[in-house]
Amino acid sequence: MAHLSEAAVAQINEICARYADEKTPLMMILSAIQKEYGYIPLEVQEIVSEKTGISVAEIYGVVTFYSYFSLQPKGKYVIGCCLGTACYVKGAQQIIDKFSEILGIAPGETTADGMFTIDALRCIGACGIAPAVSINGKVYPKLKVSDVPGIVEEYRNMGGAN
Ligand code: FES
Repeated sequence: MAHLSEAAVAQINEICARYADEKTPLMMILSAIQKEYGYIPLEVQEIVSEKTGISVAEIYGVVTFYSYFSLQPKGKYVIGCCLGTACYVKGAQQIIDKFSEILGIAPGETTADGMFTIDALRCIGACGIAPAVSINGKVYPKLKVSDVPGIVEEYRNMGGAN
């Protein structure tokens, strides 16, 4: 809890109180925190545990089970590589491997400069243009491994981390 400001702790407490009477308070609390802060580190999970009486182990289980929740801050550009069946059979694994190789991070990780996160996703509903990659909501269709370096370069040229 040492890294959290008093204001942040107060806000997390307020979020916990806001959803206390809901049927599924934990999901609503975690969604609100994820939306507000972009990630849910362990210190925050401890506060949620104190306020709700739900164990940290259970909260941690939920945070790590749903890919919407994140334990770490995400990069400025989130590269969502679809590994659903249609994309997978068209070479999505090689695409994500290439992003990992160029950026030096594994799926789920963020570059040290805060620029890029690679996420492995399930079907993103673009099977007709597989293999597909979504970067901050922009979908890149029918990607080839040889397209990947140029795409990374494009985002590097767009600017640094926040
Ligand atoms: S499997 Fe990739 S978009 Fe459907």
